[in-house]
Amino acid sequence: MKILGIETSCDETAAAIVEDGDNILSNVVASQVDIHRRYGGIVPEVASRQHLITILPVLDSAMAEAKTSWQDIGAVAVTIGPGLAGSLLVGVNVAKAITLAHGLPLIGVNHLEAHIYANWLSKDKPEFPCLCLIVSGGHSDLVLMSGHGQFKKLGRTRDDAAGEAFDKAARILNLGYPGGPAIEKAAAGSTPSFTLPRAWLKGSDDFSFSGLKTAVLHLVRDNDFSDPARVAGAAASFQQAVVDVLTTKTIRAAERLQVKQILLSGGVAANKALRDSFTCNSPVPMMIPWPNLCTDNAAMVAACGYYHCRLGKVDGCDVDVVPSLSLG
Ligand code: KG4
Ligand code: ZN
Repeated sequence: MKILGIETSCDETAAAIVEDGDNILSNVVASQVDIHRRYGGIVPEVASRQHLITILPVLDSAMAEAKTSWQDIGAVAVTIGPGLAGSLLVGVNVAKAITLAHGLPLIGVNHLEAHIYANWLSKDKPEFPCLCLIVSGGHSDLVLMSGHGQFKKLGRTRDDAAGEAFDKAARILNLGYPGGPAIEKAAAGSTPSFTLPRAWLKGSDDFSFSGLKTAVLHLVRDNDFSDPARVAGAAASFQQAVVDVLTTKTIRAAERLQVKQILLSGGVAANKALRDSFTCNSPVPMMIPWPNLCTDNAAMVAACGYYHCRLGKVDGCDVDVVPSLSLG
């Protein structure tokens, strides 16, 4: 079964065709990063306008690359939340129009669940129960997954999400936008040279990164950072602090819950230091999607939609956007 996935929750306009939940026939992503860079962050009104301009060419490319006609498509899966309301509306309304025009089933998908399902876009499938760490621009969620569609949230961020912390620290260090890749690049040729705090929040699976961000702010305010080597050292120290907390707390929870695997996902999971730390330290096998499947894409939405279909979870055209949707 071929599923068309559509993703417009934030600043990426994406469409993909995935066969049987793991065979990616096309995966087209139009990033708005160059447009939002001049503002140092995402401007919601600009994002939704840009989705309107880009969505149809992106859909056409996804269909052409997959060499697929509408007769071959079995269902349309679209992100309904969480995300920016104006952005989500573009994808959801286009999905509704397609399903009405071609008489196809419509599947509304949770963006966080879709991030997790990026781990099913591989021939090796995760085993249940597994522990999922979703680290993106808006979320740092630790979720126990006991079967398809069965999620229990164990922890979340109490303030800044991991990706948000990367973006804010990069801005403080004048490294540009988006912050995650900028910090990773700056840190690559350096070693952690500053002592920065880690919020362990003992007895809880929650995370907190705002204290770390404030510590970077004070470091830059109180010291001379005109030397790029010092900036690189601060970037490496910040990255190491985030990686330490995410890895240690997730592994502790995995041991406590005796899960079979740990699944990483979300944009921050593209970070090599984080991937290496989990791979080296996890006591159970790791699943980490390819970096291009960690950041926002529509292949993960299609994969998630496939498993919804198998569970008989299909929606009608009355499905609506849910900007504050959560998981578990
Ligand atoms: O999942 P995602 O693409 O969009 C959301 O759902 O939010 O995640 C975007 C976030 C941004 O904060 C970005 O800075 C971060 O993921 N990110 C990274 C890397 N690539 C993207 N953070 C650290 N290292 C990276 N290589
Ligand atoms: Zn995302």
